[in-house]
Amino acid sequence: MGKDVIIACDFSSAQATFDFLDRFKEEKPFVKIGMELYYAEGPSIVKEIKKRGHKIFLDLKLHDIPNTVKKSMSVLSGLDVDMTNLHAAGTIDMMKAALEGLTREDGTRPILIAVTQLTSTSEERMQNELLINASINDTIVKYAGNAKQAGLDGVVCSPLEAGMVKDNCGREFITVTPGVRFADGDVGDQVRVTTPARAKEIGSDYIVVGRPITAAEDPVAAYRRCVSEFVG
Ligand code: C5P
Repeated sequence: MGKDVIIACDFSSAQATFDFLDRFKEEKPFVKIGMELYYAEGPSIVKEIKKRGHKIFLDLKLHDIPNTVKKSMSVLSGLDVDMTNLHAAGTIDMMKAALEGLTREDGTRPILIAVTQLTSTSEERMQNELLINASINDTIVKYAGNAKQAGLDGVVCSPLEAGMVKDNCGREFITVTPGVRFADGDVGDQVRVTTPARAKEIGSDYIVVGRPITAAEDPVAAYRRCVSEFVG
């Protein structure tokens, strides 16, 4: 499987997104469309970006009863996205239903990955508010194992957790990792961050990079720097 850099297109409108993507004349980066942009613009934003030749990770993090998730995944699959996701907390039944919904008539489907624990959830809050009596790392490994058992392709996690997930779920199990910053860049609101080069060493398959590229003075140069550090 090829390693790749996915740009988090966290813009609030289609126009801002197209203005950004128009800067890329030579390459067609893999892009992540999240809730903000999808809820603002609807399925047309996915179709437009796809038409421009980009691969798309549709990051909507589904979490509902299995039947609802199955039917919703079927709709998303029809949009021809390349990757999408859900919350592993929905349990194995929900993840299996999602895979069924996602699989097209010809047997193809987008890559499906699970969110284990959001990186904004601390161990303390997980234990006190969710009454989960385990360490956050044990929870992440268990949820990743559930995702594997359900037949999913991988998980979203911090790059610092990618090695642990690979050790428990196998090298082929995909890790998609946000929380990436250049060694000389701003960390912003992210806490557990690492560089593209280190994410490569730990074993991430895809890094998701937002502001270090989108807010850079020269986003194309920043993207190329990410690719050269991560993909080599
Ligand atoms: O701008 P930045 O590089 O921090 O963007 C990271 C992207 O990855 C954002 O779209 C954020 O929502 C997403 N993400 C994350 N941490 C997670 C899951 C998703 O930062 N655990």
